[in-house]
Amino acid sequence: PVIYLITPTYTRMEQKAELTRLSQTLMHVKNIHWIVIEDADAKTNLVARFLKQTGFNYTHLNVATPAHFKLASNDPSWLKPRGVLQRNAGLAWLRSNTKKQPGVLFFVDDDNTYSLRLFEEMRFTKKVSVWPVGIVGYLRYETPIVTDGKVTGWFTYFKPTRPFPMDMAGFAVNLALIHSHPGAGFSNEVERGYQESTFLTGLGVTLDDLEPKANMCSEVLVWHTRTEKSSLRNEEKMWKKYGLQSDPNIEV
Ligand code: UGA
Ligand code: MN
Repeated sequence: PVIYLITPTYTRMEQKAELTRLSQTLMHVKNIHWIVIEDADAKTNLVARFLKQTGFNYTHLNVATPAHFKLASNDPSWLKPRGVLQRNAGLAWLRSNTKKQPGVLFFVDDDNTYSLRLFEEMRFTKKVSVWPVGIVGYLRYETPIVTDGKVTGWFTYFKPTRPFPMDMAGFAVNLALIHSHPGAGFSNEVERGYQESTFLTGLGVTLDDLEPKANMCSEVLVWHTRTEKSSLRNEEKMWKKYGLQSDPNIEV
């Protein structure tokens, strides 16, 4: 089966570095199709050129998050959901451009860290595969709790009574479910922390459908790493002190 990867991304100083690191992980994974959706009114040349040089099977889309749903630079990151319309655009593309062929869908954020082993764990997902996610929710890891080969609960601190209290990086779904549940998706209107639950509930998933991977959820193969925001405070001082400026034609 092809693994379809949906990645929302947005312009910031670290974007090309994140995409470079992620793409160099994906270069080691066979049979993937990377759907990259820019959070922007128009596709950027940076991302267009970047995707082209990877040589991947890919689809480049864009849709802007409406201003009132967008985080301001001083807002805490959990205040508003990220990637909602972008992931929905990826789902819409899948529904119109794939058929009942074998496939698996996984949401890949541009800043997480992915073990190559994770992709092979998810490749033969029947309905929904689940596994632990490292360094998330202010815990060492969050994970489904597995008893006798079945998911029976959740090791999560934040709102553990959510239907599916796990991170976007903690599951993959069979493509057939996307087609059989055309209404399933994400929403900017739902309560904080409910994106994953909204999507999986929309797919008609129950606890019983979950397939524990990564050695019965005993191994961490994906980490919710976050990149420090870079300061450019010496750009202006460079000019004042030395009369030098960085070259705007050099893409960073
Ligand atoms: C956590 C989850 O791991 C995400 O999957 C979830 O989307 C997010 O929370 C949420 O609550 O909405 P976190 O590290 O806090 O992730 O979020 P980011 O990594 O900043 O964003 C998730 C994805 O959306 C990234 O691929 C990022 O590039 C993209 N994004 C972020 C946008 O497309 N637009 C933005 O304005 C911000
Ligand atoms: Mn992140």
